Amino acid sequence: MVCLGNICRSPLAEGIMQHKIDQAGLDWQVDSAGTAGYHVGEAPHKLSQKVSKQNGIDISQQCCRQFVKEDMLHFDLIYVMDSSNYNDVRRISADLWDENKVDLLLNKLYPNKNRSVPDPWYGEEDGYHKVFEMIDKACDAILEKYSILNIQ
Ligand code: 4NP
Repeated sequence: MVCLGNICRSPLAEGIMQHKIDQAGLDWQVDSAGTAGYHVGEAPHKLSQKVSKQNGIDISQQCCRQFVKEDMLHFDLIYVMDSSNYNDVRRISADLWDENKVDLLLNKLYPNKNRSVPDPWYGEEDGYHKVFEMIDKACDAILEKYSILNIQ
């Protein structure tokens, strides 16, 4: 799960996906990263922590890191929050770029529409609630699609 800062959106996406993986008893690995390094080493944004906690998910132990090109090798699927993240992941991955692994997260809900998970960084708490709901639904779609494949 990748966004710009790895402080607002992608920590929520990691926490939500991990929660669903745990509930489903799957052995998937999930992680998150930012394309920029502004907040490396920090915990998620207070409002991301607050909103996820209200939904029964503790993301306080996450630690911000920057996306590295080797992530393209280590992960099977890379979900980005917006088109700018997509372009940054392509740039950072350079010769390791694999188009088949990368997609916008909301394409799981709205195929081929290339919609963004809006950046709540500059806004108020309600933006974090909206982002939580969007990511939650998209993660349900991922789980539905790939947990079936896992069993077969
Ligand atoms: P995120 O939001 O990409 O959802 O983590 C942002 C966090 C920090 C900044 C921008 C976006 N920033 O400019 O520091």
